[in-house]
Formats: sequence, structure tokens, C-alpha cells
Amino acid sequence: MPQLEIVDLKANYGTQTVLERINLSVKKGEIVSLIGASGSGKSTLLRVLMGLLPPLAGQVRINGEIIDYTNRAQIGRIRSQMAIVFQQYNLFQNMSVLDNVTVAPIKVKGRPRKEVEEYAIALLQKVGMGAKLKAYPDELSGGQQQRVAIARALALQPEILLLDEVTAALDPELVTEVLDTVRLLAADGMTMFIVSHEMSFVREVSTKVVFMDGGHVIEAGDPRQIFDQPQQARTREFVGKILRH
Ligand SMILES: Nc1ncnc2c1ncn2[C@@H]1O[C@H](COP(=O)(O)OP(=O)(O)OP(=O)(O)O)[C@@H](O)[C@H]1O
Ligand SMILES: [Mg+2]
Repeated sequence: MPQLEIVDLKANYGTQTVLERINLSVKKGEIVSLIGASGSGKSTLLRVLMGLLPPLAGQVRINGEIIDYTNRAQIGRIRSQMAIVFQQYNLFQNMSVLDNVTVAPIKVKGRPRKEVEEYAIALLQKVGMGAKLKAYPDELSGGQQQRVAIARALALQPEILLLDEVTAALDPELVTEVLDTVRLLAADGMTMFIVSHEMSFVREVSTKVVFMDGGHVIEAGDPRQIFDQPQQARTREFVGKILRH
């Protein structure tokens, strides 16, 4: 059974349809990258999955269970199964690195502080931030803050991690360290959705690449298909453009 299934999903902003007939099936441990031009619906798809924008039609199933996005309790459950990290890492500026990572599991989930802290320290070590537990966000580089934001999302112990352009706001020399963190999570078998403009990274890390255009999935396949042998004219055109850069 797929871990996540998206069936004929549709979403609007007001009267504008921004996602239409989206179908995707994702197995545990898959790394699914969403690519496509600005405005093609990549972020919107992640927002719908997280319950931040209610779908107009279609279904999302997690481990076979249909999610009812009109039900608050179910949205709460989704947010314990999936976590999202955005381009703007939005750390709490008045909290140390460790507190940023522990606050939600302790306050929202009511888990014991000691246990949460031990887990958070292990996560921060994993993302290479173990030496900065007591630092405040404004004492960190953008790449370091983004790695803390990833640890903060992982502290909620999601089954699926959604990363929306997590390197887009970073200076080029800081991109590598964040991508290394993502590689590590991929090797660990974390299921991920990745939106990224780092095409060589997308190609290397993804098990599936999904090309979106105008709110539709035009083509989905393994990286070799999408980048080397795209089946659709629009995919060919997009890939041709980005690979010339
Ligand atoms: N909050 C919003 N209110 C109204 N329309 C929106 C909103 N956010 C996005 N849209 C519209 O929805 C469509 C899809 O936008 P989305 O942000 O999903 O694109 P994207 O593929 O993530 O683009 P980018 O690569 O620029 O991040 C666009 O036409 C956009 O203008
Ligand atoms: Mg976006």
C-alpha cells in the first residue's frame, strides 16, 4: 500500500483553479521532487497536503486512510504525520537553538522535556548543529538557521517531510551544507517532497520527479526519464530551458 496517495485533487484560490486532477502515489522512503515554472502550483500542492488550503475535490490518503480536510481533528493528525519547512525558516528569534527545536513537542504534544531534549540534541547533532545548542538565531548563518529549522520539523517525528525551496534564500556557499542534510535524511529512508531549483541535486536524490505546469502534473517519472527522455513536449521544453542555464 502506498504511504501517500493523491487522487484527482483540485484546489482553488478564490475562483482561480491552481491545482487540477493531481494524481500521485508515493511509497515509504520515496523522494519526490516537484519541478516546474514559477506559479505552476508546487507550493500550493504542499499547502493542500498540510491542510493549509482545503482541497475543492479529490482525495488524499495516508497509509490507506482518507483525510477529511474539513475535520479539524484530522488536520491535527496530518500535522503529526507530515511536517513542512519553508524557504523562510522563521525560527523563534527569542529562543535558543535547542528551545526552537523542543518547544512544539513539549508545548503542543505534551511530551516530557527530558526525553524531547535528548532527541532534539541528537537531531541537532545530525544536522551538524550540535555545537550551537545555546546560540540564538541571529548568531547563526542562513544555512545554519535552515538546518535548525529542519531539525525543528523532524522533532515532531513526521512520517513525511515537505521541503519548499529550503535553499532558495541562501548564499551559494551555504546551499551545500543544507543539501548535505537533506541527503542524510534521504539515506535514512525519510519520505520527502522536495521543491528545489537545484536541478543537479533533484536529479541525484529523487526517486520520482514530478513536472508541473499550470496546476497540472504534466509528467512524472524517475529522474532519468524526466531529464534525459521526457515524454511530453512541455517537459522537454522546460528541461531544455533549465539545463541550458
Ligand atoms: N495566497 C494566495 N492567494 C491567491 N493566489 C495564490 C496564493 N498563493 C499562490 N497563488 C497563485 O496560485 C498559483 C500557484 O502558485 P504556487 O505558489 O503554488 O506556485 P509555485 O509553483 O510554488 O511557484 P514558485 O516557484 O514561484 O514558488 C499561482 O498562480 C499563484 O499566483
Ligand atoms: Mg513555491
